[in-house]
Amino acid sequence: EDYSPPSTDIITLTRHVLTEGFKQRKESAASGDLTILLASLQTTCIGAAGNTNVQGEDQKKLDVLSNEIMINALKASGKTAVLVSEENDEAIFVGEKQEGGRGKYCVVFDPLDGSSNIDAGVNIGTIFGIYLVKEGSKGTLEDVLRPGREMVAAGYCMYGSSANMVLTTGNGVNGYTLDNQIGEFILTHPNIRMKNRGKIYSCNEGNSMYYSEPVLKYLDSIKYPKKEGAKPYAARYIGSMVADVHRQLLYSGIFLYPSGANAKDGKLRMLYEAFPMAFITEQAGGLATNGTERILDLTPKSIHQRCPVFLGSKDDVEDLMKFFK
Ligand code: AHG
Ligand code: MN
Ligand code: MN
Ligand code: MN
Repeated sequence: EDYSPPSTDIITLTRHVLTEGFKQRKESAASGDLTILLASLQTTCIGAAGNTNVQGEDQKKLDVLSNEIMINALKASGKTAVLVSEENDEAIFVGEKQEGGRGKYCVVFDPLDGSSNIDAGVNIGTIFGIYLVKEGSKGTLEDVLRPGREMVAAGYCMYGSSANMVLTTGNGVNGYTLDNQIGEFILTHPNIRMKNRGKIYSCNEGNSMYYSEPVLKYLDSIKYPKKEGAKPYAARYIGSMVADVHRQLLYSGIFLYPSGANAKDGKLRMLYEAFPMAFITEQAGGLATNGTERILDLTPKSIHQRCPVFLGSKDDVEDLMKFFK
């Protein structure tokens, strides 16, 4: 078979973010602070990936374990001022005395997404979003109760057969795969773009009895297409948002976590699930809405506020929005 010599120009995540940041001449990236912050996030993903062999019955422990790994690494980076985690009721404000000092970034994160899937060995992940503190702020709640469109970076790491990191700093979306030999994430999916229309829909239809009319009508339209000869969409649902969104990013189509009679604002949290995935989706050419508004234009009133999430290929999301009009 054709022998391709091993690449000798390996683009690591750190190198890629530095060069991308430099190209964008963005103060936040070019100053190297964002790169150092992302490198510390990378370390947590490498660490957490190594921890997925903990038995499922410790899933709560794994939630807490991965949470502690992230909080410690982010604080130690010396680049953070505010941390918001799904696993902490209150926001964490980094003090002056912090080792390495307080930085200018606020990181909102879901340390372990898809906890219910751990004991089944199904992919789980870590989701994060990053804000720059507001001008002159030392880090308060005001720095994180902001629209998602003000984030400077967002990403996720998915732990499965391999560890995949997907990241945007506002200039497209890139995917990296952990090379266990060298302990670095290597650029494997440069400039990920979604097609305008896919053939897959992803939602937990077990909640159908709770869904609103617009959602039910939309699902009906793709399961029983009216157009002569049109084929229905395929159903794919893993139950870990990271895995479901990663598949839609690479294969196109639509992911839905609607609100319903059982969950008036839906289940997914705005700050550290909806916003990062919406940012990534838009940067890959897709759309992300709560049904009537752009998700990135929403402003959370509290750090764990939830919102309905419909995201994916542009034409598919636009089709869904027609049913909400
Ligand atoms: P987490 O494990 O961080 O609490 O998030 C779980 C979320 C998300 O990963 C997924 O999309 C959703 O829960 C699945 O919920 P259902 O089991 O209700 O479909
Ligand atoms: Mn989650
Ligand atoms: Mn979680
Ligand atoms: Mn949880």
